[in-house]
Amino acid sequence: AIKLVTTAAELRAESARLLLEKRGSSQGLVPTMGALHSGHAALARAAVEQNDVVVASIFVNPLQFGEAADLDRYPRTLEADMALLDAEGVDLVFAPSVEEVYPGGEPLVRVTSGPLGEKWEGASRPGHFDGALTVVAKLLHYGLPGGPAFDGGAAAYRAYFGQKDAQQLALVKRMVSDLNFPVDIVAVPTVRSEEGLALSSRNRFLSEAEQDAALVLSRALRLLESRALAREPLDLDSAVALVESQPLVRLDYFDVVDPGTLEPLAENCQDTPFRGEGLAIIAAKVGPVRLIDNLPLSS
Ligand code: PAJ
Repeated sequence: AIKLVTTAAELRAESARLLLEKRGSSQGLVPTMGALHSGHAALARAAVEQNDVVVASIFVNPLQFGEAADLDRYPRTLEADMALLDAEGVDLVFAPSVEEVYPGGEPLVRVTSGPLGEKWEGASRPGHFDGALTVVAKLLHYGLPGGPAFDGGAAAYRAYFGQKDAQQLALVKRMVSDLNFPVDIVAVPTVRSEEGLALSSRNRFLSEAEQDAALVLSRALRLLESRALAREPLDLDSAVALVESQPLVRLDYFDVVDPGTLEPLAENCQDTPFRGEGLAIIAAKVGPVRLIDNLPLSS
């Protein structure tokens, strides 16, 4: 059965015990903020398939929220979250308090996300990615495999992130390679509703009419995907127009970018046949809720 731990020391001890008990050689970490849905479950499932011991963390990180109200409003559903993770076969849930993670208050030294953290989502959420990367750095350290399996160099260590948050994923990959974190980052494809809406803990704040309207985001992404697959010009302008034709949706950005640097692929977006690898990214406000989605393109 799944076990809940709340301190770094307990996590290390339990992870060491489990690796020994299972004669395990790999550990997976699934960082989350709770309020779990099938998207998070897909991360947990991938981690359980690929690792002997799996830890999921649940921590609503104050550093990555802009307004205090947003932080207070964030849903906290620990019991249901534990049940979902248990059903996926996760071994340990690490749910530390804010005091455990930030004992001296907010940290003086932080990870800066640089220019990659200032564009797209970063433009409307100043400081968000610095806060997210700082806690991810800490979580990756907390989640290191414990005991001799790791000290002896025998354990592989993997951490799981959703493609849904493409900019976060790109930044985490960059942090891990730029700063030599001893972990493999595994990307898990976006889980969607049957109709195509990318699952998000924020979807609960959408009315039914807004949920229907929000489908235009994934529809516009699919339109680009099909043009890329057909090696046609993407005609991004027409996809933008499709989104803007939906009155309940206020488009923030919609572009096709390099998946690693998130720089726009200008030439490939309009009139020339699409070639290579790209990422279509979109953000919009639907009613009171800001939604993001993306789809990898290749041809
Ligand atoms: P949270 O929003 O809880 O998301 C946890 C992980 O689940 C992220 O890697 C996110 O990309 C992934 N995820 C969310 N919705 C998904 C979906 N529909 N399909 C696939 N994966 C999905 O992202 C965070 O928490 C935080 O920023 C965190 C990394 C935990 C740092 O605080």
